[in-house]
Amino acid sequence: MKPLSGNVQGIQRSPIRQILDSAKAYPDAIELEIGQPDFDPPVHVIEAAVDAARNRYTGYTANAGIMELREAICTKLARENALQVGTDEIMVTVGAMQAIFSSMAVLLEPGDQILLPDPGYGNFESAARLLNAEPIYYATLPERGFEPDFERLEQLVTPRTKAMLINSPSNPTGAVFTREVLMRCLAFCQKHDLYMISDETYDQLLFEGTHHSPAKWDDEGRVISVFTTSKTYAMTGWRIGYAVANPEIVRQMTKIQEPTVSCVNTVAQHAAVAALLGPQDCVAYMREQYRVRRDVAVQVAKELGLKVSNPRGAFYMLVDISAQDKCSLDFSLDLLDQERVAVGPGCAFGPICDRYVRISFCASESDLRKGLTRLARHLSASTPLSRILSATATVA
Ligand SMILES: Cc1ncc(COP(=O)(O)O)c(C=O)c1O
Repeated sequence: MKPLSGNVQGIQRSPIRQILDSAKAYPDAIELEIGQPDFDPPVHVIEAAVDAARNRYTGYTANAGIMELREAICTKLARENALQVGTDEIMVTVGAMQAIFSSMAVLLEPGDQILLPDPGYGNFESAARLLNAEPIYYATLPERGFEPDFERLEQLVTPRTKAMLINSPSNPTGAVFTREVLMRCLAFCQKHDLYMISDETYDQLLFEGTHHSPAKWDDEGRVISVFTTSKTYAMTGWRIGYAVANPEIVRQMTKIQEPTVSCVNTVAQHAAVAALLGPQDCVAYMREQYRVRRDVAVQVAKELGLKVSNPRGAFYMLVDISAQDKCSLDFSLDLLDQERVAVGPGCAFGPICDRYVRISFCASESDLRKGLTRLARHLSASTPLSRILSATATVA
Protein backbone atom coordinates (compact mmCIF):
# COMPACT_ATOMS: atom_id res chain seq x y z
CA MET A 1 0.00 0.00 0.00
CA LYS A 2 1.08 3.57 -0.54
CA PRO A 3 2.60 5.30 2.48
CA LEU A 4 0.49 7.34 4.86
CA SER A 5 1.05 11.10 5.00
CA GLY A 6 4.64 11.73 6.06
CA ASN A 7 3.50 15.03 7.51
CA VAL A 8 1.13 13.36 9.95
CA GLN A 9 3.52 10.52 10.69
CA GLY A 10 6.16 13.13 11.60
CA ILE A 11 4.02 14.50 14.44
CA GLN A 12 5.39 13.30 17.76
CA ARG A 13 3.10 11.82 20.37
CA SER A 14 2.92 14.14 23.40
CA PRO A 15 5.29 12.99 26.19
CA ILE A 16 2.55 14.05 28.64
CA ARG A 17 0.21 11.46 27.10
CA GLN A 18 3.03 8.95 27.42
CA ILE A 19 3.24 9.63 31.16
CA LEU A 20 -0.56 9.56 31.48
CA ASP A 21 -0.69 6.15 29.82
CA SER A 22 2.21 4.83 31.89
CA ALA A 23 0.55 6.11 35.08
CA LYS A 24 -2.37 3.72 34.47
CA ALA A 25 -0.07 0.88 35.54
CA TYR A 26 0.35 2.56 38.96
CA PRO A 27 -3.14 3.07 40.46
CA ASP A 28 -1.61 4.51 43.64
CA ALA A 29 0.41 7.17 41.78
CA ILE A 30 0.04 10.85 42.65
CA GLU A 31 -0.95 12.55 39.42
CA LEU A 32 0.48 16.03 38.89
CA GLU A 33 0.95 15.77 35.14
CA ILE A 34 -2.18 17.08 33.49
CA GLY A 35 -4.00 20.41 33.19
CA GLN A 36 -7.38 18.90 33.89
CA PRO A 37 -9.30 20.94 36.53
CA ASP A 38 -10.33 18.73 39.45
CA PHE A 39 -13.52 20.77 39.97
CA ASP A 40 -16.97 20.05 38.56
CA PRO A 41 -18.46 22.42 36.01
CA PRO A 42 -20.90 24.87 37.67
CA VAL A 43 -24.35 23.35 38.31
CA HIS A 44 -26.18 26.06 36.32
CA VAL A 45 -24.04 25.15 33.29
CA ILE A 46 -24.96 21.47 33.59
CA GLU A 47 -28.63 22.44 33.93
CA ALA A 48 -28.43 24.61 30.83
CA ALA A 49 -27.06 21.66 28.88
CA VAL A 50 -29.86 19.39 30.10
CA ASP A 51 -32.45 22.04 29.20
CA ALA A 52 -30.91 22.46 25.75
CA ALA A 53 -31.13 18.73 25.08
CA ARG A 54 -34.72 18.56 26.45
CA ASN A 55 -35.75 21.50 24.29
CA ARG A 56 -34.26 19.73 21.27
CA TYR A 57 -31.43 22.12 20.56
CA THR A 58 -29.78 19.13 19.01
CA GLY A 59 -29.34 19.92 15.30
CA TYR A 60 -26.53 21.56 13.35
CA THR A 61 -25.89 25.25 14.01
CA ALA A 62 -24.34 28.06 11.96
CA ASN A 63 -20.68 27.32 11.19
CA ALA A 64 -19.50 30.23 13.34
CA GLY A 65 -21.69 29.23 16.30
CA ILE A 66 -25.18 30.16 17.52
CA MET A 67 -25.86 33.89 17.60
CA GLU A 68 -26.84 33.73 21.28
CA LEU A 69 -23.36 32.41 22.17
CA ARG A 70 -21.55 34.90 19.95
CA GLU A 71 -23.49 37.69 21.68
CA ALA A 72 -22.64 36.23 25.11
CA ILE A 73 -18.97 36.15 24.06
CA CYS A 74 -19.16 39.86 23.10
CA THR A 75 -20.56 40.59 26.58
CA LYS A 76 -17.78 38.57 28.25
CA LEU A 77 -15.04 40.21 26.17
CA ALA A 78 -16.29 43.69 27.11
CA ARG A 79 -16.65 42.68 30.79
CA GLU A 80 -13.35 40.80 31.29
CA ASN A 81 -11.00 41.80 28.48
CA ALA A 82 -11.83 45.43 27.61
CA LEU A 83 -12.50 44.32 24.03
CA GLN A 84 -15.45 45.87 22.20
CA VAL A 85 -16.22 43.62 19.24
CA GLY A 86 -19.17 42.62 17.08
CA THR A 87 -20.51 39.12 16.49
CA ASP A 88 -18.91 39.12 13.00
CA GLU A 89 -15.52 39.15 14.77
CA ILE A 90 -16.15 35.89 16.65
CA MET A 91 -15.99 32.24 15.73
CA VAL A 92 -16.97 29.50 18.17
CA THR A 93 -14.50 26.62 18.03
CA VAL A 94 -13.88 23.12 19.40
CA GLY A 95 -11.87 24.36 22.38
CA ALA A 96 -8.98 26.81 22.20
CA MET A 97 -7.00 24.23 20.25
CA GLN A 98 -9.24 24.40 17.18
CA ALA A 99 -9.15 28.20 17.33
CA ILE A 100 -5.34 28.02 17.26
CA PHE A 101 -5.27 25.48 14.45
CA SER A 102 -7.79 27.42 12.34
CA SER A 103 -5.91 30.68 12.97
CA MET A 104 -2.73 29.08 11.69
CA ALA A 105 -4.60 27.54 8.73
CA VAL A 106 -5.90 30.95 7.69
CA LEU A 107 -2.52 32.66 8.08
CA LEU A 108 0.13 30.17 7.01
CA GLU A 109 1.11 28.87 3.56
CA PRO A 110 3.34 25.79 3.42
CA GLY A 111 6.91 26.89 4.21
CA ASP A 112 5.85 29.99 6.14
CA GLN A 113 7.43 30.41 9.55
CA ILE A 114 5.66 31.04 12.83
CA LEU A 115 7.43 32.17 16.00
CA LEU A 116 6.50 30.00 18.97
CA PRO A 117 7.43 30.43 22.65
CA ASP A 118 9.96 28.10 24.26
CA PRO A 119 8.89 26.91 26.78
CA GLY A 120 5.41 26.65 25.28
CA TYR A 121 2.41 24.37 24.84
CA GLY A 122 3.54 21.45 22.65
CA ASN A 123 0.44 21.46 20.44
CA PHE A 124 1.48 24.79 18.91
CA GLU A 125 4.34 23.07 17.11
CA SER A 126 2.23 20.09 16.02
CA ALA A 127 -0.46 22.37 14.59
CA ALA A 128 2.11 24.34 12.58
CA ARG A 129 3.71 21.14 11.30
CA LEU A 130 0.35 19.69 10.24
CA LEU A 131 -0.01 22.73 8.00
CA ASN A 132 3.49 22.27 6.55
CA ALA A 133 4.57 25.51 8.18
CA GLU A 134 7.88 25.84 9.98
CA PRO A 135 7.84 26.45 13.75
CA ILE A 136 10.66 28.68 14.96
CA TYR A 137 11.14 28.81 18.72
CA TYR A 138 11.84 32.08 20.49
CA ALA A 139 13.33 31.80 23.96
CA THR A 140 11.61 33.13 27.01
CA LEU A 141 14.18 33.52 29.74
CA PRO A 142 13.88 31.92 33.19
CA GLU A 143 16.15 34.61 34.67
CA ARG A 144 13.73 37.29 33.41
CA GLY A 145 10.57 35.58 34.62
CA PHE A 146 10.14 33.78 31.28
CA GLU A 147 9.70 36.96 29.28
CA PRO A 148 10.80 36.93 25.62
CA ASP A 149 14.39 37.79 24.80
CA PHE A 150 13.61 40.62 22.37
CA GLU A 151 17.17 40.92 21.05
CA ARG A 152 17.22 37.29 19.97
CA LEU A 153 13.67 37.57 18.69
CA GLU A 154 14.78 40.21 16.15
CA GLN A 155 17.40 37.82 14.80
CA LEU A 156 14.81 35.11 14.11
CA VAL A 157 12.77 37.12 11.60
CA THR A 158 13.16 36.13 7.93
CA PRO A 159 11.16 37.00 4.80
CA ARG A 160 9.18 33.79 5.47
CA THR A 161 8.07 34.79 9.00
CA LYS A 162 4.33 35.33 8.98
CA ALA A 163 3.14 35.23 12.58
CA MET A 164 4.11 35.22 16.22
CA LEU A 165 2.23 33.28 18.87
CA ILE A 166 2.19 34.44 22.46
CA ASN A 167 0.60 32.73 25.46
CA SER A 168 0.03 34.69 28.67
CA PRO A 169 -0.60 33.41 31.30
CA SER A 170 1.69 30.68 30.08
CA ASN A 171 1.44 26.94 30.04
CA PRO A 172 3.89 25.63 31.31
CA THR A 173 5.77 28.49 33.03
CA GLY A 174 2.89 30.29 34.78
CA ALA A 175 4.43 33.60 33.60
CA VAL A 176 2.10 36.54 33.07
CA PHE A 177 3.38 39.12 30.58
CA THR A 178 3.11 42.69 31.81
CA ARG A 179 1.36 45.37 29.80
CA GLU A 180 4.81 46.65 28.69
CA VAL A 181 5.95 43.23 27.46
CA LEU A 182 2.69 42.65 25.58
CA MET A 183 2.91 46.08 23.96
CA ARG A 184 6.49 45.33 22.96
CA CYS A 185 5.37 42.04 21.37
CA LEU A 186 2.68 43.88 19.43
CA ALA A 187 5.15 46.60 18.34
CA PHE A 188 7.52 43.84 17.17
CA CYS A 189 4.69 42.30 15.08
CA GLN A 190 3.82 45.71 13.64
CA LYS A 191 7.47 46.46 12.80
CA HIS A 192 7.89 43.19 10.90
CA ASP A 193 4.33 43.01 9.55
CA LEU A 194 3.52 39.78 11.40
CA TYR A 195 0.16 38.52 12.55
CA MET A 196 -0.13 37.78 16.24
CA ILE A 197 -1.99 34.80 17.69
CA SER A 198 -2.61 35.56 21.35
CA ASP A 199 -3.52 32.39 23.22
CA GLU A 200 -5.47 33.57 26.27
CA THR A 201 -6.65 30.17 27.48
CA TYR A 202 -5.88 31.20 31.10
CA ASP A 203 -7.12 34.82 30.88
CA GLN A 204 -9.13 34.52 34.10
CA LEU A 205 -6.60 32.47 36.05
CA LEU A 206 -4.22 35.10 37.43
CA PHE A 207 -2.96 35.09 41.02
CA GLU A 208 -1.28 38.49 40.75
CA GLY A 209 -1.22 41.32 38.26
CA THR A 210 -3.70 42.06 35.50
CA HIS A 211 -4.40 40.21 32.31
CA HIS A 212 -4.22 42.34 29.17
CA SER A 213 -5.53 41.28 25.76
CA PRO A 214 -3.15 42.81 23.22
CA ALA A 215 -6.04 43.11 20.73
CA LYS A 216 -7.23 46.15 22.66
CA TRP A 217 -4.21 48.12 21.35
CA ASP A 218 -4.46 46.73 17.80
CA ASP A 219 -6.26 49.04 15.39
CA GLU A 220 -5.15 47.20 12.22
CA GLY A 221 -6.74 43.79 12.83
CA ARG A 222 -3.46 41.84 13.01
CA VAL A 223 -4.20 40.11 16.35
CA ILE A 224 -6.23 36.92 16.61
CA SER A 225 -7.20 36.31 20.25
CA VAL A 226 -8.01 32.81 21.44
CA PHE A 227 -10.11 32.01 24.50
CA THR A 228 -11.84 28.95 25.94
CA THR A 229 -14.30 27.89 28.61
CA SER A 230 -12.14 24.81 29.32
CA LYS A 231 -10.10 26.03 32.28
CA THR A 232 -12.13 29.00 33.55
CA TYR A 233 -15.29 26.91 34.08
CA ALA A 234 -13.72 23.42 34.40
CA MET A 235 -15.33 22.52 31.05
CA THR A 236 -12.44 20.82 29.26
CA GLY A 237 -14.58 18.03 27.79
CA TRP A 238 -17.33 20.34 26.60
CA ARG A 239 -14.98 21.69 23.93
CA ILE A 240 -16.10 25.30 23.70
CA GLY A 241 -13.48 27.86 22.71
CA TYR A 242 -13.58 30.92 20.49
CA ALA A 243 -11.40 33.03 18.23
CA VAL A 244 -11.72 36.80 18.03
CA ALA A 245 -10.33 38.46 14.92
CA ASN A 246 -11.11 40.98 12.21
CA PRO A 247 -14.23 40.08 10.17
CA GLU A 248 -12.28 38.96 7.10
CA ILE A 249 -10.16 36.52 9.12
CA VAL A 250 -13.30 35.21 10.83
CA ARG A 251 -15.01 34.80 7.43
CA GLN A 252 -12.08 32.72 6.18
CA MET A 253 -11.83 30.71 9.41
CA THR A 254 -15.53 29.94 9.33
CA LYS A 255 -15.07 28.23 5.97
CA ILE A 256 -12.82 25.68 7.70
CA GLN A 257 -15.71 24.54 9.93
CA GLU A 258 -17.84 23.02 7.15
CA PRO A 259 -15.36 20.42 5.85
CA THR A 260 -13.91 19.67 9.30
CA VAL A 261 -16.51 19.75 12.12
CA SER A 262 -19.51 21.55 10.51
CA CYS A 263 -20.21 23.27 13.79
CA VAL A 264 -19.44 22.95 17.47
CA ASN A 265 -21.63 20.69 19.65
CA THR A 266 -25.01 22.41 19.94
CA VAL A 267 -25.86 21.39 23.52
CA ALA A 268 -22.45 22.56 24.70
CA GLN A 269 -22.88 25.90 22.91
CA HIS A 270 -26.09 26.52 24.89
CA ALA A 271 -24.33 25.53 28.11
CA ALA A 272 -21.51 27.97 27.32
CA VAL A 273 -24.04 30.84 27.14
CA ALA A 274 -24.98 30.00 30.74
CA ALA A 275 -21.31 29.84 31.72
CA LEU A 276 -20.48 33.25 30.26
CA LEU A 277 -23.64 35.10 31.34
CA GLY A 278 -24.47 33.28 34.60
CA PRO A 279 -23.05 33.85 38.11
CA GLN A 280 -19.26 34.19 38.04
CA ASP A 281 -18.48 33.38 41.69
CA CYS A 282 -17.46 29.84 40.62
CA VAL A 283 -14.56 31.39 38.66
CA ALA A 284 -13.34 33.37 41.68
CA TYR A 285 -13.71 30.27 43.89
CA MET A 286 -11.63 28.00 41.64
CA ARG A 287 -8.99 30.71 41.11
CA GLU A 288 -8.63 31.11 44.88
CA GLN A 289 -8.21 27.34 45.32
CA TYR A 290 -5.48 27.28 42.67
CA ARG A 291 -3.81 30.28 44.34
CA VAL A 292 -3.72 28.52 47.73
CA ARG A 293 -2.24 25.44 46.06
CA ARG A 294 0.33 27.61 44.23
CA ASP A 295 1.39 29.13 47.55
CA VAL A 296 1.68 25.70 49.17
CA ALA A 297 3.64 24.27 46.22
CA VAL A 298 6.09 27.20 46.08
CA GLN A 299 6.61 27.11 49.87
CA VAL A 300 7.14 23.33 49.98
CA ALA A 301 9.50 23.48 46.99
CA LYS A 302 11.50 26.19 48.75
CA GLU A 303 11.75 24.15 51.95
CA LEU A 304 12.93 21.15 49.93
CA GLY A 305 15.60 23.19 48.12
CA LEU A 306 13.97 22.75 44.69
CA LYS A 307 14.48 25.44 42.04
CA VAL A 308 11.07 26.35 40.64
CA SER A 309 9.40 28.93 38.39
CA ASN A 310 7.33 31.65 40.02
CA PRO A 311 3.82 31.06 38.64
CA ARG A 312 1.68 34.20 38.59
CA GLY A 313 -1.10 32.68 36.51
CA ALA A 314 -2.45 29.48 34.86
CA PHE A 315 -2.00 26.48 37.17
CA TYR A 316 1.45 25.09 36.54
CA MET A 317 4.94 25.29 38.02
CA LEU A 318 8.25 24.22 36.50
CA VAL A 319 10.76 22.35 38.65
CA ASP A 320 14.42 22.48 37.57
CA ILE A 321 15.88 18.96 37.30
CA SER A 322 19.13 19.95 35.57
CA ALA A 323 21.24 18.80 38.55
CA GLN A 324 20.86 15.24 37.26
CA ASP A 325 21.85 13.93 33.83
CA LYS A 326 18.74 12.30 32.38
CA CYS A 327 16.39 13.89 29.86
CA SER A 328 13.09 15.03 31.33
CA LEU A 329 11.12 12.11 29.87
CA ASP A 330 13.43 9.46 31.33
CA PHE A 331 13.52 11.32 34.64
CA SER A 332 9.70 11.45 34.70
CA LEU A 333 9.35 7.75 33.84
CA ASP A 334 11.83 6.84 36.61
CA LEU A 335 10.03 9.13 39.06
CA LEU A 336 6.76 7.40 38.27
CA ASP A 337 8.25 3.95 38.60
CA GLN A 338 10.29 4.55 41.74
CA GLU A 339 8.31 7.19 43.63
CA ARG A 340 4.83 6.83 42.12
CA VAL A 341 4.55 10.46 41.09
CA ALA A 342 3.44 11.46 37.57
CA VAL A 343 4.72 14.84 36.31
CA GLY A 344 4.84 16.49 32.88
CA PRO A 345 8.24 16.00 31.19
CA GLY A 346 9.61 19.40 30.15
CA CYS A 347 10.55 18.13 26.69
CA ALA A 348 6.81 18.34 25.87
CA PHE A 349 7.21 22.14 25.93
CA GLY A 350 10.17 22.83 23.66
CA PRO A 351 13.97 22.54 23.67
CA ILE A 352 14.76 24.89 26.63
CA CYS A 353 12.28 23.09 28.82
CA ASP A 354 14.02 19.70 28.86
CA ARG A 355 15.77 20.80 32.06
CA TYR A 356 12.40 21.01 33.84
CA VAL A 357 9.37 18.95 34.74
CA ARG A 358 5.93 20.52 35.05
CA ILE A 359 3.71 20.22 38.08
CA SER A 360 -0.02 20.95 37.74
CA PHE A 361 -2.04 22.50 40.57
CA CYS A 362 -5.09 20.45 39.53
CA ALA A 363 -4.46 18.26 42.59
CA SER A 364 -5.09 18.48 46.33
CA GLU A 365 -2.71 20.32 48.66
CA SER A 366 -1.81 17.02 50.27
CA ASP A 367 -0.93 15.43 46.90
CA LEU A 368 1.16 18.47 46.00
CA ARG A 369 3.09 18.21 49.27
CA LYS A 370 3.66 14.46 48.95
CA GLY A 371 4.45 14.66 45.24
CA LEU A 372 7.04 17.42 45.65
CA THR A 373 8.65 15.67 48.62
CA ARG A 374 9.08 12.48 46.61
CA LEU A 375 10.30 14.43 43.58
CA ALA A 376 12.96 16.16 45.70
CA ARG A 377 14.05 12.78 47.13
CA HIS A 378 14.28 11.28 43.64
CA LEU A 379 16.17 14.29 42.30
CA SER A 380 18.78 14.15 45.03
CA ALA A 381 19.12 10.36 44.64
CA SER A 382 19.69 10.84 40.88
CA THR A 383 22.16 13.71 41.22
CA PRO A 384 25.81 12.61 40.96
CA LEU A 385 27.62 12.94 44.31
CA SER A 386 30.41 15.01 42.71
CA ARG A 387 27.82 17.63 41.68
CA ILE A 388 26.28 17.76 45.17
CA LEU A 389 29.77 18.15 46.70
CA SER A 390 30.77 20.92 44.30
CA ALA A 391 27.47 22.74 44.97
CA THR A 392 28.11 22.44 48.73
CA ALA A 393 31.69 23.70 48.25
CA THR A 394 30.41 26.72 46.28
CA VAL A 395 27.93 27.56 49.02
CA ALA A 396 30.60 27.16 51.71
C1 LIG B 1 -1.81 27.20 26.42
C2 LIG B 1 -2.96 26.34 26.01
N1 LIG B 1 -3.59 26.62 24.87
C3 LIG B 1 -4.62 25.87 24.45
C4 LIG B 1 -5.07 24.79 25.18
C5 LIG B 1 -6.21 23.96 24.67
O1 LIG B 1 -7.40 24.31 25.33
P1 LIG B 1 -8.78 23.60 24.95
O2 LIG B 1 -8.92 22.43 25.86
O3 LIG B 1 -9.82 24.64 25.20
O4 LIG B 1 -8.70 23.21 23.52
C6 LIG B 1 -4.43 24.45 26.38
C7 LIG B 1 -4.84 23.27 27.16
O5 LIG B 1 -4.21 22.82 28.07
C8 LIG B 1 -3.34 25.25 26.81
O6 LIG B 1 -2.69 24.99 27.95
